[in-house]
Amino acid sequence: MSSVKVIHLGVGGVGTALLEQSLSLRPRDAAAISLVAVSDIYAALWSDTGLDRGRLQELVALKAQAKSIADLAGNGDLQGFYQWAEEQVAPGQPPTIVVDTTASDDTLPLLLRAAANGHGVVLANKRPVSASQSVWDALNAGGRLRYEATVGAGLPVLYVLDYLQRTGDSVTAIEGMLSGTLGYLFSRLEAGDSYSGAVSKAREQGYTEPDPRDDLGGMDVARKALILARTVGRRLELSDLPIEALYPQELAGLTVDEFMQRASEVDAAFSARLSQAAAKGEVLRYLAQVDSSGVSIGVRSVPRSSQFGALAGPDNLVSITTARYTEPLAPIRLMGPGAGRSVTGAGVLRDVLDLAQAMRAEGASAPL
Ligand SMILES: NC(=O)c1ccc[n+]([C@@H]2O[C@H](COP(=O)([O-])OP(=O)(O)OC[C@H]3O[C@@H](n4cnc5c(N)ncnc54)[C@H](OP(=O)(O)O)[C@@H]3O)[C@@H](O)[C@H]2O)c1
Repeated sequence: MSSVKVIHLGVGGVGTALLEQSLSLRPRDAAAISLVAVSDIYAALWSDTGLDRGRLQELVALKAQAKSIADLAGNGDLQGFYQWAEEQVAPGQPPTIVVDTTASDDTLPLLLRAAANGHGVVLANKRPVSASQSVWDALNAGGRLRYEATVGAGLPVLYVLDYLQRTGDSVTAIEGMLSGTLGYLFSRLEAGDSYSGAVSKAREQGYTEPDPRDDLGGMDVARKALILARTVGRRLELSDLPIEALYPQELAGLTVDEFMQRASEVDAAFSARLSQAAAKGEVLRYLAQVDSSGVSIGVRSVPRSSQFGALAGPDNLVSITTARYTEPLAPIRLMGPGAGRSVTGAGVLRDVLDLAQAMRAEGASAPL
């Protein structure tokens, strides 16, 4: 049976790990897919018959030097690439999977076209699945969307939710510490650092985005919470979610340097909240909660000995309660690194292989 074509958008940290891993697949898995295109933000490589292994090894080596596809001989511009890619995912074309490991909105038109025409879509990029509900519906319409790496990186969180639902269980609540950055921050606060000291340390250690407010604002956690909620059938928009930011609005408009200088203005408020929690034997954690009352994202005071209170450092923890997994059975818990290029790349690769297998099993029939 012929292999499923793969078009891969975004060869950054995760994308390069994915490429490397796909170069050392077992022969049976390697035969299931054929990588026909790769792109970064500047340029692309594509070929109707599949990219040569030597070229891909060259690309991995080039990315290790932080260079672009534009530095490789034989590359083409993005306009020409997207024209070609749109033809690949037209109705009646051989089964193709579009993989998005960018952090961009620009890939959405190609993803939507692929989904509308019965092709596959695999995402590490959270933006498409946390866009509007109508975009979510359109991406899911053909049943060929996979997005495991968008929540918990390589941890099989969405796999577990899928298996629970397919076996007739009903998910009643999901709680999660979904940000390694904020996990690290709250561990530092618990160790006695001030808010401003903990933010500086997290930034120095490379845990935060260059502008730490991108993490402190809670939007990354909110996108993941929305994806979890939609995965269990909730219909809602990102704008419906109450999100508690970890800095006051008056520090929002500052430059990064100004924010870092004025972060100490938040120290007293945080220290008071920590003391209040400690007086009850509790600690503060930044949690996402999905349950019958809705979805919420923010700081919660939890007993030190509870599942979330006991977790220190940057690991993620997702706790799932269902009709079957409820008291006296403990909820299902998935814990481990929720970021990292290699584990995230592997999460994407598993989705690609599973989807390719399903598409081939459907007789590699022409898409709808
Ligand atoms: N890193 C993790 O641990 C992790 C975990 C879970 C999920 N994710 C998600 O995975 C995605 C990738 O993360 P990353 O850490 O690999 O980020 P990254 O290193 O910044 O890589 C992003 C890549 O996308 C490319 N790109 C940007 N816009 C593009 C466009 N319009 N068309 C084609 N390529 C485009 C960039 O090109 P240039 O190289 O030319 O800039 C870069 O190669 C993100 O959505 C992230 O949220 C990451």
